Amino acid sequence: MSSSQIPVLESYESQHLEAAFQALNADVARRAAGLRTSEDREQFRLYWLGRKQGRLKLISDVWLKSAPAEARKSLGQHFNQLKQQIEQALEADPATLAPSTTPTDAIDITLPGIRPTLGAEHPLIRTMHEIVRVFEHMGYSVGVGPEVETDYYNFEALNFPPNHPARDTQDTLVVANQQNKPLRDRLLLRTHTSPVQIRTMERQPPPVRIVIPGKVHRNDAADATHSPIFHQVEGLCVDENITFSDLKGTLDHAMKELFGSAVRTRFFPSFFPFTEPSADVQISCIFCGGKGCRKCKHSGWIELLGCGMVNPAVFKFVRGKQPAYDPKKISGFAFGMGVDRIAMMKYGISDIGLLYSGDMRFLEQFA
Ligand code: PHE
Repeated sequence: MSSSQIPVLESYESQHLEAAFQALNADVARRAAGLRTSEDREQFRLYWLGRKQGRLKLISDVWLKSAPAEARKSLGQHFNQLKQQIEQALEADPATLAPSTTPTDAIDITLPGIRPTLGAEHPLIRTMHEIVRVFEHMGYSVGVGPEVETDYYNFEALNFPPNHPARDTQDTLVVANQQNKPLRDRLLLRTHTSPVQIRTMERQPPPVRIVIPGKVHRNDAADATHSPIFHQVEGLCVDENITFSDLKGTLDHAMKELFGSAVRTRFFPSFFPFTEPSADVQISCIFCGGKGCRKCKHSGWIELLGCGMVNPAVFKFVRGKQPAYDPKKISGFAFGMGVDRIAMMKYGISDIGLLYSGDMRFLEQFA
């Protein structure tokens, strides 16, 4: 037996000594309970009391070596007591030893089994996987990034300058006590998955085709359609000759895959600092087919995601690390969609809070 198998004594304080010896007593008792034959006993004796390699000697050597004077007496008593326990086990009449299988250990194979409860994918995670799969089929890879971000990645490198009013559209939860750091290094809970666009481009030259599912946070008051925590799937495609038609075609196909081939899409001018031009994408109402109903506020359309062509200003931020992002040679598009809203539409969930309540009665419906 090597000394590495000697149990570690946390300290020589009495509660640690008690615990350590209790473990040894239990080990002796457990091994003693398995003694059947005279060979078993001889093995047991050698294991514990062997003169050179006996466990008792090995342990006492190590523990006594560094023991402070005041702990020696108590250690000695404990080792004596352990030795007595071992000797008693050796003297015990084999006939009185426990039989190998006591009735309480026996398995009653006539009893009904215990059925393990199966977990199920949470509707949000399931929706996120569905969205990601649609883009994987188009050759996209999948990336992730940190939920606690710096101001630089969440805003500045996405072309939201400090104090720019566009920041107000994403009411941000910031980490406290950061005032003594430069603004760009201050930590916050990411308000969108777009910072992972920057992180991805810093890591690899074009071409890029990536989707990024993830959790985001905003300081929004919770109601039936808002939650301070929600989920997005971000997309980024950068290559030579990427045009707005590619963006439209990609998203139109993705919406048909997600909601059925009858769904139509339309693109409205919008604004995001990191895309230019930017658009909001609407799909024809999946509930009424576009005729107009309560769900689509009688417009026939439902707004689902934001997108646009990557703003050359964003490429400028990554060129320090990856010079190949030259806006004269490459172009790209990006999009971001809210997973919660899509999950709510797909599964007919009317209150976003249900997705975060952990209520089994709700979750069991998806099992
Ligand atoms: N990040 C934007 C938001 O959360 C969505 C978006 C992503 C828009 C990518 C354009 C391109 O509102």
